[in-house]
Amino acid sequence: MARLDNKVAFITGGGGGIGRATAERFAEEGAKVVIAEINRAAGEAATLSARSKGRKTGGDALFIETDVTNAESVEAAVKQTIKHYKSLHILHNNAGGSTLQDGPVTEAPVEEFWRCINLDVFGTFLCSKFAIPEIAKSGGGSVINMSSNVALMALPGRDCYTAAKGAVTSLTRSMAVEYAPDNIRVNAIAPSVTLSDRVRKLLEKSPEIEAISKTHLLGLGEPIHVADLAVYLAGDESAITTGQVIPVDSGVTIV
Ligand SMILES: NC(=O)c1ccc[n+]([C@@H]2O[C@H](COP(=O)([O-])OP(=O)(O)OC[C@H]3O[C@@H](n4cnc5c(N)ncnc54)[C@H](O)[C@@H]3O)[C@@H](O)[C@H]2O)c1
Repeated sequence: MARLDNKVAFITGGGGGIGRATAERFAEEGAKVVIAEINRAAGEAATLSARSKGRKTGGDALFIETDVTNAESVEAAVKQTIKHYKSLHILHNNAGGSTLQDGPVTEAPVEEFWRCINLDVFGTFLCSKFAIPEIAKSGGGSVINMSSNVALMALPGRDCYTAAKGAVTSLTRSMAVEYAPDNIRVNAIAPSVTLSDRVRKLLEKSPEIEAISKTHLLGLGEPIHVADLAVYLAGDESAITTGQVIPVDSGVTIV
C-alpha cells in the first residue's frame, strides 16, 4: 500500500519548484493531486509529470488554473476538486516566494510588501477558508503551510518576505488548535535556500552565494528534500503532529 493511498491533495503553486516536486511525490505515493497553479503551461507540464509518476500506485493529477489571491478563483478551484475527486484530505499552501525587490523596511518598496502579504499570507488564508470545510467533511486530514527559515532567524534584507512568513507561521499554530476537533492537523515547513529554478536564477546573480553555501552544513537544499517532508506531514504517519514548524534547512538555523 502506498503512503497516500485514497488521499486527495490540493497543492497551490504546484507547477514549479517545491510544489511540483511535492505533486510528483504525492502522486507516486498514490494520492490524487490537484495542481492549483496560476501559470497554465507550468501547471499542465507538472500535471503530466505527476500523473506519470502515479501510474504504478493509482496516483493521479488534475490541473486547475487558480489564482490563490482571488477568492472566486480559489472557491471555484475547490468546488472543481470536489466535483472531480469527490473528497479532499490535504491542502498544501505552497504558492509564495521572495523577489529581488525586497529589502530592509526603510528601503523596500511598499508594493513589494503588499505583494508578499497578498500571495503568501492572503493566499494561505483564502485556500484554507475554502478547503478546510471540505477536508472536515471528508473526515479530516492535513494542512501544510509554507514558512521559511526567515521566520525562525534574522535574515537582513528581506523584511517584506520575513513579515509574510512570520504571519504564516503564527497562523499555522492557531489553525492547528482551531481545527483539531475536525481531525485536521496543521503544520508548516520552514525551508532555507532550496534550489527551485526561480531561486537558482536569483542566486546566479547574487554575490552572496558563497557565504550562503558556507552556512548550510549539508549543502543547499533541492525541492525533493521539502517534498519528502510534505509526504510525511500529508499522511497518517504524522497522526499526532500538529501546530509544528519544521525546518528543512541544512542546519542553517543552528549555526
Ligand atoms: N525555494 C526556496 O529557497 C524557498 C525557501 C523557503 C521557503 N520557500 C517557500 O516555498 C514555496 C515554494 O517556493 P519555490 O521556490 O518552489 O517557488 P517557485 O517560484 O519555484 O514556484 C511557485 C509556484 O507558484 C506559482 N504561483 C505564483 N503566484 C501564484 C498565484 N497567485 N496563484 C497560484 N500559483 C501561483 C508560480 O507560478 C510557481 O509555479 C514558497 O511559499 C516559498 O516562499 C522557498
